[in-house]
Amino acid sequence: MDMLEGKAVVVTGAGRGLGEAFAIHLAQAGAAVVVNDVDAELAERTAENIRAHGGRAVASADTVTDPARAQAIVDLCVREYGTISGLVNNAGVNYEASPWQEDPEQIRDLIEVNVLGVIYTGTAAARAMVEHGGGGSIVNVSSGASLGQRKLGTYAASKGAVASLTYSWALDLEEAGIRVNAVCPLAHTRMVWKSERSLRNCPPDRTPSRIAPLVLYLLADSSDGITGQLIRCNGPQLHLVGQPYLKAPILERPVWDTDSIRQAFDEVFSAHLEPYGLEKRVPPRLRKWTEGAA
Ligand SMILES: NC(=O)c1ccc[n+]([C@@H]2O[C@H](COP(=O)([O-])OP(=O)(O)OC[C@H]3O[C@@H](n4cnc5c(N)ncnc54)[C@H](O)[C@@H]3O)[C@@H](O)[C@H]2O)c1
Repeated sequence: MDMLEGKAVVVTGAGRGLGEAFAIHLAQAGAAVVVNDVDAELAERTAENIRAHGGRAVASADTVTDPARAQAIVDLCVREYGTISGLVNNAGVNYEASPWQEDPEQIRDLIEVNVLGVIYTGTAAARAMVEHGGGGSIVNVSSGASLGQRKLGTYAASKGAVASLTYSWALDLEEAGIRVNAVCPLAHTRMVWKSERSLRNCPPDRTPSRIAPLVLYLLADSSDGITGQLIRCNGPQLHLVGQPYLKAPILERPVWDTDSIRQAFDEVFSAHLEPYGLEKRVPPRLRKWTEGAA
């Protein structure tokens, strides 16, 4: 019940949806929480709700897309609670578009929140945690979409960036006792409601509060020694997400010209091509073999 007693945690994008559920659960587990959301009214509503139930919470309406405002979110936590022991890098946006329909302004807006926002807030938190010397835990929010999904290229890329940040920061921050993991959730929120396809793929029982215990666990000392991991929680399923790796066979010759590259594909790589995307689509050159087998 008191797994987070004595901890001070920032949750970004906590005015609604997953962030709101995270903030409430973390406060119930004893954490003092900075409830951040660019929508000031919603941030205040979540904070007030936590206080009304005897928890500790303060609202922040700063945007994560501005490095000075992201720093201010972390500063608020240190000022109010004397430290920052956890960050849930949750604020995010999405939209669907085929590559030929993409709008540059929409692309930029998404990358600013989902990638720059995560970097600005994460680095501000890491700086404060390193300064305080007491370690900490950062939980990023990635997505199964990072494996590749139709009409979600920009969103998928942003969540792939979050996965790469997670592995990289986990390496950088281990010595300072700061753990960095990411979760890939699935839950009914505004993000899912606005897309018919997402709605079809999200059974009605997938509520944001079903993801909160995982985030709580990753912030608590009981997950000591767990870092650099991507963890997906989808209703009854909880699993790790495998990480990209350098795949054998690794062919070697002093110089690769186009002809030897073509030969490498014809003679070796054709048999090793990877199914791609979350749907694991078999590349055409391999498909003739796998479909023949079926
Ligand atoms: N819902 C899902 O199934 C699902 C799946 C995979 C990943 N995610 C990720 O989970 C996170 C939360 O999404 P959600 O589904 O709860 O969506 P949501 O739209 O319900 O909530 C996102 C919140 O982030 C806030 N926000 C947006 N821009 C911000 C900014 N610049 N600064 C501060 N706050 C900002 C919004 O005001 C909103 O309250 C996102 O990162 C999303 O990509 C969600």
